[in-house]
Amino acid sequence: MVKVLIVGATGFLGNMIAKEAVKKRHEVTALVSSESQSKKKEIVQGLKDVGVRIVTGHLESPIDLLADLLKTHHTVVSAVNGPALLLQLNLVEAAKKAANPTLQFIPSEFSAFGAVGEESAPLLYGAKAQVRKALEANRIRYTYIVAYGLASYWANGLGELGQRNRVPPAPTGQNKVSYYGSGRTKFCINLEQDVVAYTVRALGCGHVINKQLHIRPKLNQLSQHDLIYIWEDKIFRQLCIGNRLARQPISEAELDAQIADAKDDIKRTHLQLQKSFTISGTLTPMGIHDYEATTLYPEDHHYTPIAKYMNDLIHDFKSQLSEE
Ligand SMILES: NC(=O)c1ccc[n+]([C@@H]2O[C@H](COP(=O)([O-])OP(=O)(O)OC[C@H]3O[C@@H](n4cnc5c(N)ncnc54)[C@H](OP(=O)(O)O)[C@@H]3O)[C@@H](O)[C@H]2O)c1
Repeated sequence: MVKVLIVGATGFLGNMIAKEAVKKRHEVTALVSSESQSKKKEIVQGLKDVGVRIVTGHLESPIDLLADLLKTHHTVVSAVNGPALLLQLNLVEAAKKAANPTLQFIPSEFSAFGAVGEESAPLLYGAKAQVRKALEANRIRYTYIVAYGLASYWANGLGELGQRNRVPPAPTGQNKVSYYGSGRTKFCINLEQDVVAYTVRALGCGHVINKQLHIRPKLNQLSQHDLIYIWEDKIFRQLCIGNRLARQPISEAELDAQIADAKDDIKRTHLQLQKSFTISGTLTPMGIHDYEATTLYPEDHHYTPIAKYMNDLIHDFKSQLSEE
């Protein structure tokens, strides 16, 4: 049993991590601001209902309060996002003050940052890089989760960002899907549930102290053309619709121009991630400080291949058809 503190437990990934950690019989505390406790009553109640202890606070709470929490926990998982990514530096400061020699710090990464350079998406990865530097400079024991693309963001859009949770288009010939560069660059996509399961498996695990844990199963390394083909093939086999989607190529130069013209930082980051995944590629060689999750924990969790996840999308597609 690991005593784990979660920051960001009212968010998308943090909420799933908190609940999964309880399922695995860990003792879970969530740091939740009073504002969030009143705005997200149902989510907070959902955490309490499964046995998560709620402590009021946030990343700008006094360092002493955060340090006291870190003294009494084995692991802290942060799953914050946006501007709060940099505020994790306060949590690092608190960990330094707590001087708990066995604390494991899992910062909010859950991305491809550990596999690619900071320059591929400077705003997002720059903040994550600063947190890494602070952890390492202060010799705080860390585990970095390299999760690559999350399925609801990347598989639903057949490799095109910005289609989160949407059902991919019907292969009618008129419907278009954009692909970037050659469309053949392989990148990795994982189901959110698998990222959560491997993160929880890593809690208190000595193997991954001061290591990066990549979630990079072979079957989930796909290109945009692979994803589009899998979608068309499933529709053909299950619904006998034999058309293909119209493919719209977007060259690297066109994507670079879109990045240069991006109207704000969020849009620019989004396009930079698109380039990093589908043109530059994220499957860089792993180093001596890296483990791959499905290899390290082969029996502890059985991940779902993206091709299988796409059966769920077919199911959603069928429901959409019957509603029309
Ligand atoms: N690889 C991918 O495809 C992918 C996709 C999505 C996200 N991610 C990564 O996953 C991580 C988590 O993202 P997410 O989308 O799950 O985040 P999210 O849903 O936006 O949730 C963020 C959480 O952080 C909390 N928070 C915000 N400011 C805080 C502060 N000052 N102090 C304490 N808590 C604070 C929020 O609390 P309240 O809102 O309740 O105040 C919320 O619980 C990020 O690192 C993100 O980059 C990766």
